[in-house]
Amino acid sequence: MSDAAPLPLPVARSIASLRQTVGDWRANGLRIGFVPTMGALHAGHLSLVEMARARADRVVVSIFVNPTQFGPSEDFSKYPRQERADAARLAAFGVDVLYAPTVDEMYPAGATTAVTVGGVTDRLEGVCRPGHFSGVATVVTKLLNQVRPDLAVFGEKDYQQLLVVRRMVADLDLAVDIVPGPTVREADGLAMSSRNAYLSSEDRAVAAALPATLSFVASQLRGGLDAAPLLEAGRTRLLKAGFSEVQYLDLADAETLAPLDRADRPARLLVAAKVGATRLIDNVAV
Ligand code: PAJ
Repeated sequence: MSDAAPLPLPVARSIASLRQTVGDWRANGLRIGFVPTMGALHAGHLSLVEMARARADRVVVSIFVNPTQFGPSEDFSKYPRQERADAARLAAFGVDVLYAPTVDEMYPAGATTAVTVGGVTDRLEGVCRPGHFSGVATVVTKLLNQVRPDLAVFGEKDYQQLLVVRRMVADLDLAVDIVPGPTVREADGLAMSSRNAYLSSEDRAVAAALPATLSFVASQLRGGLDAAPLLEAGRTRLLKAGFSEVQYLDLADAETLAPLDRADRPARLLVAAKVGATRLIDNVAV
């Protein structure tokens, strides 16, 4: 099929055309669900689409590789882009419109406003990726204003992002329900991620140690033991398995992400580690 062939579902490239479509639905009293993504869609993304589908009359999915959430040495330019394959999967999952704005549409020359969320961004990804959450919060605020959905689904795979979005929606009085979706995993436990495409077959084998270590450490933590030695043992296990760097393996309060010495309240075990040049993140409930 040539690049000029039409995509298998309606596509909005501009805010104006998106608003026309969604505005008609809203005028007819339809409930609108939204799943924001950066594309390179996998079964994890599609599980969020199914959740939106089950809760709404119409579903909008956005694909926008958001430059403001990538650091200067990160993978913005090489992030996988495969719009035609993504569109086919979205059509098969009954998505009503794909919203795929250009960078110029999202960030016109002269735009200078950003959204910054405090507190929950202070640790973990907030430290490893300075500016990342401001880029996420800014684009999610804009996407929510552009689509104006009744509900939006976000994956627990990016647990800290989910908390950032919840905080921002509460603080800015945005009238949208944020629905969390469970992490979808490969057969060996590796969380599905667009970035798994970067893994060589050797790195892919090593990567399976990430979920295995998380579930092992989480099961020990559930016994009420002190976190520090368990977390240290988990880091060592990841390095022995072939990870080149463990950026964090931390136990945190499930609501605030404040560090915990033991799992004496609802908690989350979160990890970021590098295998070769690829940075992977994952988390589980404790
Ligand atoms: P992206 O990484 O494409 O992820 C889009 C959504 O899919 C996020 O809510 C993410 O948590 C969810 N997701 C990713 N992998 C998943 C898995 N294995 N199981 C379940 N859900 C999964 O996250 C972003 O894009 C961006 O930061 C975005 C929110 C779109 C803002 O630019």
